[in-house]
Amino acid sequence: MTQHDVWALGRHADVRAALRADDVLVSGRGVSLNASLNDQPSRTTLMSDGDLHLKRRKVLMKPMMPSALKEVRSQIDRLADDLVSDLLSRASFDGIADFARHLPVAVISHLVGLPEGGRERMLDWAAATFNVLGPNNARALASGPAMGDMIQYVLSVGRSELEPDGWAARIFEAGDGGAIDAEDARGLLIDYIGPSLDTTILGTGHLLHLLGSHPAEYARVLADPKLIPAAVNEALRVGSPVRGLYVASRASRRSRTRRMTCRSHRASAS
Ligand code: HEM
Repeated sequence: MTQHDVWALGRHADVRAALRADDVLVSGRGVSLNASLNDQPSRTTLMSDGDLHLKRRKVLMKPMMPSALKEVRSQIDRLADDLVSDLLSRASFDGIADFARHLPVAVISHLVGLPEGGRERMLDWAAATFNVLGPNNARALASGPAMGDMIQYVLSVGRSELEPDGWAARIFEAGDGGAIDAEDARGLLIDYIGPSLDTTILGTGHLLHLLGSHPAEYARVLADPKLIPAAVNEALRVGSPVRGLYVASRASRRSRTRRMTCRSHRASAS
């Protein structure tokens, strides 16, 4: 794309190969198309490469592994059952506001374990995180204040305010124990706050839309609930909630970075 001086990759195999080639294509110089944002210092997992990336990722992913999620499964099932009962008792409901948003906000914001004020603002911060990934257009500029608010928040939130068993508190503990650099802990909170809500909400909304617009497929899923996981994966594949991420060529000069944009078609990358 000449307008932004980037190469675009869209196929799974190409995206996968590009993301794994961190000897030539790096995330550590920023993953947005927005040069001023890329120039900001970052301590996130997404914006790191090599051993540093692996070290951060190990800590970050621990509570998201299937074995850890098993522990909270019954709570999530109960919240889902309550949501469905509530929605079925209504004459109609909004698929995004009442359905798709409900579980991510109720579950993820709770698991991350920010105090009430932070949890309420997570939706705005999550939307802003993705809005600023593209070029520096009106949408990105409008999201600047929410990004600033999120960064200010992670820099100032008190450790004692966090829920003791929450994912955010565990990041600080990993810093205390030396699994990550202690000064990385605050930056890593953004890894939980930024990418967790829009992805899950857009993915759920898209699934609903696809089932509604493909009645024959919907009937198959209704008749055989074992198909539900495949239907969820397919919705993520067909309409990726993540519109694009950008990596820079290691050889490029910082002032005029040549970037490659990767539109991921697989949520499993997360
Ligand atoms: C359907 C839901 C989701 C989708 C489609 C999704 C998609 C993605 C994609 C495409 C990447 C980029 C992978 C790469 O560049 O290597 C990514 C990375 C990431 N996601 Fe997700 N994600 C989802 C849910 C979540 C949730 C719920 C969280 C946190 C609670 C999360 C946290 C992260 C983090 C921290 C990274 C960076 C990991 C790394 O660089 O190794 N994501 N996700």
